[in-house]
Amino acid sequence: MASTEFDLTKVPEGQQVTLKWRGKPLFVRNRTKGEIDKAVADDTVSMKDPQKDADRVKPGKAQWLVLIGSCTHLGCVPTFGGGDFGGWFCPCHGSHYDTSGRIRKGPAPLNLAVPEYEFLSDTKVKIG
Ligand code: FES
Repeated sequence: MASTEFDLTKVPEGQQVTLKWRGKPLFVRNRTKGEIDKAVADDTVSMKDPQKDADRVKPGKAQWLVLIGSCTHLGCVPTFGGGDFGGWFCPCHGSHYDTSGRIRKGPAPLNLAVPEYEFLSDTKVKIG
């Protein structure tokens, strides 16, 4: 399946872009320190799909979160900045994801998926 390259300089801190990849939305978010700290601080709380924030990003690149933007409930596209955990909120049936894209509340069973990707340089990633 096709991979795609993306230039990270297009995403200022605290912003995200949504790409289309393999027919699905893909979020590339440049997290603020506050977003990262909040995600790491919650690593130890009980979650439906337990994962540490560090397991969802590349080493030394915690600001970059790459996610498949498809709610793991029934596939709606969650929006950033809503919900109870400062991350994404899916308006279809009320799933709340945190700043790591982990499911924290609502009917979705799993965290927003992290696709396979790698850094080609500090400013370029290859997704897929
Ligand atoms: Fe997102 Fe149902 S599709 S909560």
